[in-house]
Amino acid sequence: MPGATESIRVLMTQMVPQLAIERLRYAVGSEGKLDINPDADHIWTKQELIDKLRESHYNALYCMLTNPVDKEVMDAAPHLKVIANMAVGYNNVDANEATRRGIAVTNTPGVLTDTTADFAWALLMASARRVAEADRFAREGRFHGWGPLMMVGQDVHGKTLGIIGFGRIGRAVAKRAGGFDMTVLYYDQYPADVETEKSLNARLVSMEDLLAQSDYVTIHTDYNPGTHHLIGAPEMARMKPTAYLINTARGACVDEAALVEALKGGKLAGAGLDVFEHEPRINPGLLELQNVTLAPHIASASLETRTAMALMAADNILAVMRGELPANMVNPEVYGAAKQ
Ligand code: GLV
Ligand code: GLV
Repeated sequence: MPGATESIRVLMTQMVPQLAIERLRYAVGSEGKLDINPDADHIWTKQELIDKLRESHYNALYCMLTNPVDKEVMDAAPHLKVIANMAVGYNNVDANEATRRGIAVTNTPGVLTDTTADFAWALLMASARRVAEADRFAREGRFHGWGPLMMVGQDVHGKTLGIIGFGRIGRAVAKRAGGFDMTVLYYDQYPADVETEKSLNARLVSMEDLLAQSDYVTIHTDYNPGTHHLIGAPEMARMKPTAYLINTARGACVDEAALVEALKGGKLAGAGLDVFEHEPRINPGLLELQNVTLAPHIASASLETRTAMALMAADNILAVMRGELPANMVNPEVYGAAKQ
């Protein structure tokens, strides 16, 4: 583990809530430094990040899910001790490469669980009841009076919800289904214990059954080579033509081109998407469809949660720099500790 006497030199790739910046500034003191990308709206390209890292002997990188942190980036920062990703997902970081170099990689699990589950529900409800489309309709001056056939959507209550990935977020989504009298199915390679299933009224089924039986399918897995295009054309073909697909996980869990085709061909009723395969680009086919609710990767975007995530990432950096095991380390084997 790093010595506790080294000064702390942090590079932060994008502005985060003030509280976390203040905590870091205080800890860094006059000995160390905290450099922040001054433009809150500009995401550094990989080359810009590399150039920035080369400018100083940073030993901590405070980064976002929009920063690919790979071998080349790490080469530019030979003093790096910690890569603190302000996200629960860390597929943007080459954690194996970091481990080889003895660099700690940390993430921010737990604090965004409920906020993300809330938003999956917001997308589900908005899709089923055409909220975004109805908003456009009203703004465009097309509301000429109540109509029995106007903006008719689909019920949520009493329907079947299929949750793919039954970790913290998937379970929080299941918990919210209780108020809607839904049948809750889930698929996960690791079954939940009986008590959890009972309390959430959720039943483990095969992926095939989940796809075939659900009115709403929502994805809550992490992204890795095994979940790439987890939902592709064959999976969509198994779904009901009246079903909706909700994705707040990672864009590439879904084959986006296949989704456009399925939606155009009436093979699915609609989709609610917070994440995209090639962010920030959105497949133009999706932009043309009224039955898709789109959000710009904001599932964890509440002030409370973004503040909690930012503080957690700051604390992870400070723990490493003090020579302690950070609370949210994804590669504890760097310090010879057991994997969490
Ligand atoms: C957001 O997508 C996260 O992984 O925290
Ligand atoms: C997020 O916190 C998850 O692992 O579900």
